[in-house]
Amino acid sequence: MINNDINFNDKTILITGGAGFIGSNLAFYFQDNYPDSIVVVFDCFRSEITFSNNNLTSFGHYKNLIGFNGVVICGNINNKSDLSLLNDYKFDYIFHHAAISDTRVYDQEIIMKTNVNAFTDILNKAKDDNSVLVYASSAATYGTLPSPQTVGKENPENPYGFSKFIMDQIACRYINNNKNMTIVGLRFFNVYGPKEFYKGSTASMVIQLGHQILDRKAPRLFKGSEKIERDFIYIKDVIQSNIKACKPHSSGIYNIGTGKPRSFQDISDILQKELGTNLGTEYFPNPFDGYQMHTQANINSSKEVLGFKPIYSLEDGIKLYVPEIKKLHGSSNK
Ligand SMILES: NC(=O)c1ccc[n+]([C@@H]2O[C@H](COP(=O)([O-])OP(=O)(O)OC[C@H]3O[C@@H](n4cnc5c(N)ncnc54)[C@H](O)[C@@H]3O)[C@@H](O)[C@H]2O)c1
Repeated sequence: MINNDINFNDKTILITGGAGFIGSNLAFYFQDNYPDSIVVVFDCFRSEITFSNNNLTSFGHYKNLIGFNGVVICGNINNKSDLSLLNDYKFDYIFHHAAISDTRVYDQEIIMKTNVNAFTDILNKAKDDNSVLVYASSAATYGTLPSPQTVGKENPENPYGFSKFIMDQIACRYINNNKNMTIVGLRFFNVYGPKEFYKGSTASMVIQLGHQILDRKAPRLFKGSEKIERDFIYIKDVIQSNIKACKPHSSGIYNIGTGKPRSFQDISDILQKELGTNLGTEYFPNPFDGYQMHTQANINSSKEVLGFKPIYSLEDGIKLYVPEIKKLHGSSNK
């Protein structure tokens, strides 16, 4: 269990986006470690509607919550009457993870409404309930700025990153105007691990390459992948950050990564080692402009203020994840 001296038993906890990857892991963290907590998941789940990039408009999936015995509310954060369903509860802690999480959606209106406008409603609910609020920001706020990415120097280069940066600015104003509130934004870098499968093609390269290898195909990587480095962080460290964020020395925005960039080639090589294959690699040209070639979270303030300490190396995380990757191989994403 992650230690930060909070006993969440008997606490009422809201997790928006709780049917998604990070949110559902958090829901089970509370269920497993604090069985007397009251955990409310709020998520619109998935419809069959897609964006023009052919990805679903939301990735929440009931299968992420099989075995969860808390409260589940299906609702859209853009819809005030759905949000009013939360008024039956007074929350001690709110974890706001609901968002359009697909970085390659270019419908700016829907991204801004979902990620930004709804955030103000969540902040107001936290203020009314006197809840601690932890919310998901993103490394996409940095765009292609050189490493190490540091809070205070942002340059988003897609609508998603822009929406998260605007959320952070709203949060900072709210923090200034409500000094008694605890509000923490977590800028996640590249998260991987169990329960991301239902994000489809937006799930991490770890599961995508893992499934290619299990198909006995050479993993497909962009040319020069040994030089494309990202800060990959295992889901358990991300859960740790959410818990530590509940008791920060001060409210604010914090990076959540390992601080140790690794290449896509490393992921492929570690997977091949774990899966006992030697399939080589198939390289193809990178079709994307504005691609992040290197990320490395500056986590100094996250360590000092939150007490966050990443534990899992890429090798450790992949090793722990491989059984789930194998279990899901060949199964339907529907
Ligand atoms: N996974 C990562 O690598 C990563 C990196 C940076 C930031 N983040 C952020 O962390 C949060 C969680 O990400 P994730 O990887 O679990 O993504 P996810 O897509 O699995 O989870 C987001 C959840 O929000 C729900 N949702 C979307 N629109 C909604 C709406 N209008 N109303 C209610 N629910 C809605 C989805 O159904 C989904 O369950 C997101 O805010 C995301 O932007 C994730």
